[in-house]
Amino acid sequence: MRKLFTISLIMVALVAFMAIGLMAQDSTKSEMKGDMKEMKGDMKKMAPAHEYVSAKKCKACHKDVYTSWETTPHAKAFEALSADEQKKPECVKCHMTGMLADGTAINNVECEACHGPGADYKKATIMSKKKWAADPKGQLAMAVEAGLVMPTEETCVRCHTKEGNPNYKEFDFEKMKAKVHAFPSMGE
Ligand code: HEC
Ligand code: HEC
Ligand code: HEC
Ligand code: HEC
Repeated sequence: MRKLFTISLIMVALVAFMAIGLMAQDSTKSEMKGDMKEMKGDMKKMAPAHEYVSAKKCKACHKDVYTSWETTPHAKAFEALSADEQKKPECVKCHMTGMLADGTAINNVECEACHGPGADYKKATIMSKKKWAADPKGQLAMAVEAGLVMPTEETCVRCHTKEGNPNYKEFDFEKMKAKVHAFPSMGE
């Protein structure tokens, strides 16, 4: 009788143990499903909703900004890499801007690395001198809606970070911001 009791106790314990194990597995499964969903969401966020056009397109209307940007290290960031390093994704990712719709790489840190891919916000209906003068806030809002980024510290620290950056230097946003190009609206 006692033996039977012990056996059934062991059985109960075993069943309970297995049940807990199954439950745990189940919750890892649903956690994994959640992670996968999140990853897919992140991938969507990472894929540009707007196309890149390259700095040449911005130059047409922002000549002062372009010619000053051209003299900065950003404009030569890709050339700073050796031929070998230019083939390494782990280096190139912070030394280039993105891809044109036809797959051509936009090397160096161009306008769109900071201001976002420009195909939609550069349109003359949005970046129009006349319309902008009449309603700067409204036009800026339209531009932002079309993908324009007015860069903040967050924009920079994507690249100005220690992680993966073998030449990391201390980054002070307020100081560094003034060096990216001329600011015509501030009389520069
Ligand atoms: C068709 C001409 C044109 C093109 C092309 C163009 N822009 Fe503009 N952009 C303007 C005008 C006009 C304004 C309004 C402010 C001004 O008069 O400078 C403006 C405003 C801006 C502003 C906001 C300035 C502010 O005062 O808030 C940014 C940033 C900007 N452009 C970046 C770019 C970038 C980056 C590109 C290339 C992807 C680009 N623009 C292409 C004409 C253009
Ligand atoms: C996370 C972004 C990032 C990655 C990845 C990265 N770099 Fe850089 N790299 C930078 C930044 C930003 C600078 C400018 C220094 C700074 O302010 O940190 C820089 C500067 C440089 C310079 C110029 C150094 C100087 O003093 O003028 C070279 C050369 C360079 N990186 C090579 C590489 C190589 C090689 C790799 C791949 C092994 C690499 N980088 C990966 C962001 C990155
Ligand atoms: C390294 C990042 C970076 C790059 C590259 C860059 N910009 Fe900017 N840009 C900024 C920052 C930061 C501001 C100031 C944002 C603010 O005031 O909120 C700015 C402001 C501007 C403004 C407003 C200027 C003013 O006088 O107020 C224009 C126009 C502009 N950028 C166009 C361009 C164009 C065109 C290029 C390429 C030739 C370019 N930017 C490249 C970071 C960048
Ligand atoms: C796509 C990556 C990327 C982004 C975004 C970026 N940078 Fe850079 N930055 C670099 C790289 C790479 C270098 C080094 C270029 C070289 O030395 O060849 C650099 C160099 C610089 C330099 C020159 C440093 C020196 O010692 O002369 C300044 C200033 C700078 N960045 C400011 C900024 C600011 C401000 C922002 C944000 C508004 C920004 N950067 C956004 C990649 C980036």
